[in-house]
Amino acid sequence: MESQIPSRRPRLVIVPFPLQGHISPMLELGTVLLSKGFSITIAHTVLNAPNPSNHPDFFFLPISGYLSGHDTTAANLKALGKAINTNCEAPFFKSLARMMEENKSLDQVVCIIYDVLMYFAEAVAKSMKLPSIIFRNVSALAVLALDTIPWLRAEGYLPCQVSMLQDPVPSLHPVRFKDLPIYNMGSLDDLVKLAIDSRPIRSSSAIIWNTIDHLGHSSLEQLHQLYNVPFFSIGPLHKMAQATSTSLLIEDTDCIEWLDKQAPLSVLYISLGSLATVDKKGLAEMAWGLASSGQPFLWVVRSGSVRDSESPELLPEDFKEKIGERGQIVKWAPQKEVLAHGAVGGFWSHCGWNSILESICEGVPLICMPYFGDQNVNARYLCHVWKIGLELEHELERVQIEKVVKRLMTEKEGAEMRRRTDDLFDPDTSSENLSAPVHDINRTSKEPFRECLT
Ligand code: UDX
Repeated sequence: MESQIPSRRPRLVIVPFPLQGHISPMLELGTVLLSKGFSITIAHTVLNAPNPSNHPDFFFLPISGYLSGHDTTAANLKALGKAINTNCEAPFFKSLARMMEENKSLDQVVCIIYDVLMYFAEAVAKSMKLPSIIFRNVSALAVLALDTIPWLRAEGYLPCQVSMLQDPVPSLHPVRFKDLPIYNMGSLDDLVKLAIDSRPIRSSSAIIWNTIDHLGHSSLEQLHQLYNVPFFSIGPLHKMAQATSTSLLIEDTDCIEWLDKQAPLSVLYISLGSLATVDKKGLAEMAWGLASSGQPFLWVVRSGSVRDSESPELLPEDFKEKIGERGQIVKWAPQKEVLAHGAVGGFWSHCGWNSILESICEGVPLICMPYFGDQNVNARYLCHVWKIGLELEHELERVQIEKVVKRLMTEKEGAEMRRRTDDLFDPDTSSENLSAPVHDINRTSKEPFRECLT
């Protein structure tokens, strides 16, 4: 329950998509906006509901839309998005109307901020005559790549021959055709529709981007010209809302004690986020590659992240014996704390946008093993523009893994990437920019989103 707030404050209703990588930044956004004088309601599906006890100052509003039979695996995302947007609009309208009626004497709802995937919230805002703002938890680079797909098709570049997959996409250097989300998410027709549908932002007043100020700035500017609404480029939100616990799973904090015993910058942290999976053979190659690298490591093997495996013992026989105290395996880590730990010198990642922001903020360079959606585009920028990542894009194979781990953790190349990563994030210029739309970055009003809410 929410603590009593004596004076009336404008209330924002925040609507996250029910996945870890989407919920975390929106809860952090809520924390930041609370500190700026707003009251916060988190409207959430019952599936993957956040824990209210971690946020005693928020009001939580469950949306009871029928989602039975749906899970939050990567394979089900499209169906889940469709089911949510079909089934949650009426229940959201009803519970929001009830909340507003019951809390008449309290704070007035002034705006709905919704994850772009929760577009039913925009329809509800419109019918209640409330302003709405879109929140994007992915990089502008990836959104621009998606946005370019209809043009590529109109110009005859898509669908492309297999022989063109390694070629650069015109105007999107260093992205190749194979990095476009068509090759890992649905059909070309679906992607064209998604790109066209998400361009006009319907009746919403603005878009908020969680980013680091200068990362992907030119992509933001290009998108801004197309969308023609205010853009608020803020973040990194996890740094602005540091005390907030946003994890849906229980974090194994014992690994911090283990990290305390390791030498500075010696540990490779491995996590593939909350959705990506590997098959059992790939997992074994990862294990033996890590074992022969000789490097200390902390590895998140999430429950359900290994395909085609029924057995509770996922790792190869003898592996734990072979690595002894040199490696730690956990089901879920306190990732932000891990990346901020002085013992961590590298991050083997699937290149989800939250993981990238968290890694850059702590000066940790990456081994990039992207899976789907935005991750391939992110990986290209990490490795070829910012030059803070090493690509691992071949079939998982132990000798390649050993080599790439050594390059990152022990060679001069890795040390140089670590220095560049440190330089990318400047905390002095990347925090208090909530009120600076990207098209007018020099203006510094103290009232966030003011022009969108009136
Ligand atoms: C999803 C998409 O897959 C990704 O492509 C998109 O950019 C964002 O949304 P996800 O795959 O979960 O996200 O990856 P990521 O964006 O990196 O978010 C994972 C979050 O889980 C991070 O905030 C990370 O700190 C957290 N995490 C991960 C933990 O807290 N503990 C862990 O052990 C692993």
